[in-house]
Parts: sequence; structure tokens; C-alpha cells
Amino acid sequence: MEDNIIHINVTDRDGSVQNIEIPTDVNMSLMELLKAWDYNILATCGGMALCATCHIQVLRGAENLNEPGDMELDMLDTLPDVTDQSRLACQLRLGNENDNLSIQIEGSLADNLS
Ligand code: FES
Repeated sequence: MEDNIIHINVTDRDGSVQNIEIPTDVNMSLMELLKAWDYNILATCGGMALCATCHIQVLRGAENLNEPGDMELDMLDTLPDVTDQSRLACQLRLGNENDNLSIQIEGSLADNLS
């Protein structure tokens, strides 16, 4: 890890891949980070684990993420396309240990825009 920088690998719904570098002290959730980088994440609930528009799959680095809470698990249970790798980006706080995290944004654009 470079000094105070973590790298997040993001695959968008269309398959495009981008490596994002952020300072370790940015103190953002992954949802906030994706929105800041103009990914199409509605986050209509504002990060309360209530809308699931921030659904992602964790491709690498899941072992370094905080465990999902009951609200996140309950919301994930409602999704038709949930997998063992599913998380809600709003529930993921990023820190040093998340260097080289790799995620894929889930859900169709149409779902997210409705
Ligand atoms: S922003 Fe609503 S569940 Fe994550």
C-alpha cells in the first residue's frame, strides 16, 4: 500500500472497470465514494440500508469488510439477485484494511432509475 492511499477496483453495470484511489482518512462509506465518482447509485434511503439501490457484489477483499448487520441482511434477503458476495455499499466503511477491494455494482440501471 502506498502511503495513506487505498485502491478500490470498481466494475460498473456495463462492465467498465475503474481503479479508484482514495486517501485512507477519507471517512466515507463505499456508497458515498461511488456517488462522489459519479456512479449511478440512487441511495434513496440516504444510507440507512432501506432501499438496496447501493447493492454491490464483492469480488475481492470481503474478509476485510465489516460484518453485515441485521438490517443489511434483511434488506439483502428481499433482492432477487442476491448472492453470497452481495453487500449494501452504504454499510461499508472504508479504511486501510480495504486496500485492493474489488466490487461490482449490481442491479439494472432501469431498476435504479424507477
Ligand atoms: S443507500 Fe439505501 S440501502 Fe444503501
